[in-house]
Amino acid sequence: MDSKYFATSKNDAGGPSPVKFSIKRKHDAIANSPILEKKTHVAQIKQTIAPILLTSKRTTIEQHQRSLPVFNCRQRILKELELNDTVLIMSETGSGKTTQIPQFLLQAGYAKSGMIGITQPRRVAAITVARRVAQELNGNIGDTVGYTVRFEDATSKATKIRFLTDGVLLRESIKDRLLLKYSVIILDEAHERTVNADLLFGIVKDAQKERRKQKLGNLKVVVTSATMDIDHFGKYFSCKGLYLEGRTYPVRVMHTKEEHEDYVHTVLVTLFHIHRTTPRNHDVLVFLTGQEEIESLAQQIRQLAKIDTTGTTDLRVFTLYAQLSQGKQLECFVPTPANVRKVILATNIAETSITIPGIRCVIDCGFVKEKSFNTANGLDVLKSVRISKAQAWQRAGRAGRDADGTCYRAYTKAEMDSFADATQPEILRSNPTSMVLQLLALDIDCNNFDFLDPPLEEGLRSAYKSLDALGAIKTGTVSYITPLGRQMVQYPLDPKYSKLLLTASSFGCMEEILSLVSVLSSDHVFVSNSDKNEMAALAHAKFQSKHGDHLTLLNVFNAFSKTEKPKMWCHDNYLNLRSLTYARNVRRQLTEISERLHLALNSSDDIEMLKKCILNGFFENIAVLQRDGFYITVSGNIRAKIHPSSVLHGKYKPSYILFTEVVQTEQTFLRQVTEISIEWIKEIVPFVKNIPTR
Ligand code: CDP
Ligand code: MG
Repeated sequence: MDSKYFATSKNDAGGPSPVKFSIKRKHDAIANSPILEKKTHVAQIKQTIAPILLTSKRTTIEQHQRSLPVFNCRQRILKELELNDTVLIMSETGSGKTTQIPQFLLQAGYAKSGMIGITQPRRVAAITVARRVAQELNGNIGDTVGYTVRFEDATSKATKIRFLTDGVLLRESIKDRLLLKYSVIILDEAHERTVNADLLFGIVKDAQKERRKQKLGNLKVVVTSATMDIDHFGKYFSCKGLYLEGRTYPVRVMHTKEEHEDYVHTVLVTLFHIHRTTPRNHDVLVFLTGQEEIESLAQQIRQLAKIDTTGTTDLRVFTLYAQLSQGKQLECFVPTPANVRKVILATNIAETSITIPGIRCVIDCGFVKEKSFNTANGLDVLKSVRISKAQAWQRAGRAGRDADGTCYRAYTKAEMDSFADATQPEILRSNPTSMVLQLLALDIDCNNFDFLDPPLEEGLRSAYKSLDALGAIKTGTVSYITPLGRQMVQYPLDPKYSKLLLTASSFGCMEEILSLVSVLSSDHVFVSNSDKNEMAALAHAKFQSKHGDHLTLLNVFNAFSKTEKPKMWCHDNYLNLRSLTYARNVRRQLTEISERLHLALNSSDDIEMLKKCILNGFFENIAVLQRDGFYITVSGNIRAKIHPSSVLHGKYKPSYILFTEVVQTEQTFLRQVTEISIEWIKEIVPFVKNIPTR
């Protein structure tokens, strides 16, 4: 592309609005750093079938199904599965793997001897895809087609096709190692390589072998993916791969000519450039890293778009990320009128899990938010990292689903050359604590498990150590799970939280801890609205506890539980109704599990006791104030500040704190903190050593 692409034409200057002016200046800044063109087709695939927009009224479901690339491969897939127990299927995102293959299997009679289970790495995908398939089969969710995600089950006895997150299937396997409920398991999105999926690969392989041996009916396994190392998977599953030719159109790819530090700004400028230069029916998909970034950019775009059009908007912004309510997530599938451009700001959720029709332009910021585990200090850190080359191509490919497209990359060609080829499997970069415990609950020692890629030994060692400290396992020549550990795996939570729940009754504050853990499971309770920040702060102030964020959250949850008009109450208090409702559901389920475990549901208003109880579960997350105002964490010696969102931010700094997580942006922050004291550390968790001096 030549430099004029980004130059704002003189005619575009528009009125004297200051906002318009500033965006114009931003464009000029980029005009001096034009974007390079890179020749390329995302895949060398024929351009045969006309774009099919499902949502068009004229298109029937059947026509849509026939138009999908997997339709022509139906017989081949069924034949392969008849001849083999395991089949690998690889094809482009949007070819119909997730929505069609389960239906093929249903029609071929596979649901007669058990359910057809399809795992998804994300809850959003599990839910949206289940709804879609239910709709295609002309039924309601929970009948023939259902889904189960953590804390939510929409299935019934009649359910034959069941979408579930890989985490849910993994937990089921603890109770039913041979997965006897299922006749087929489709492990979808295998390229995502979540830890749970990696464990399931080993578990289904083992279940297949055992079921064959015990003559309990074959378990068929289908592994599907958009991009997958077929050789690697093929060797592991001892089977061949099936490559289905997809249907995509050429995508022109642009890189920035110069490096830009502020990618959000680059994205904004690029978007308005597209908006000025391409037809309105070319929808735009923007890849960003997370909720806050997405919401703030969405707001900026809405403001700018409004001014541009003097009244009616010609650009509608949608957001798509995991924490969004289901209703909101589904909004972006609905087409906008032909003269209104749809702009979707999404996380990597839109990379392969979800296909939105109508996208002709992609803007890729080049980053993804990833949880990574630091083996040196044993802590999980959430941070933005560079995507891999494979991810960059996946993102670009989203522009070529319906017709020719363009992908704008907010990074240079040279920057991309330095990206890793493929994303590292999560198992190699995440905290293995939960995994080790789950496997031990299956009586599997990690050292003997058939991993597709074995996790790092150093990480495993620290996981065993940490679980031993929690009392969940006993390590030795042979490690085994303790009765406490067995109780811990009953909760679908990180072992730290499970431990907290399991010890809460002995501190007399089970009810409070149930509420706290539930509200911690639900993110973004406080609504911040930049237009009304002061009002929101005022509303939030009444829940504030001087002890810190955990007690503040508890105050919010308690007040929410008492209100009779939750919707209005949340609105008036700038709180997120969806998050709090979710927390209430979580609480109900955690309470059920606690009752099953015969834990006393006692309650106390002794705040000191409550904080001691939290300390008992979170002893690995202690930090100590230093002279320079920074905190040093006890595990790992991380230097960090209290997160700006904390009620303890910027005020008096307690000497000792507990935190829920480490967040790394340009700086390192401790999020959700509570004040504790050195005396309590000595009293409650005397085994915690190496406490930094002040
Ligand atoms: O799994 P794969 O990426 O191969 O495709 P899919 O998820 O089965 O989607 C096939 C097609 O169905 C997509 O191209 C979308 O057009 C459509 N679809 C939809 O309109 N709404 C959904 N919730 C899911 C899929
Ligand atoms: Mg899919």
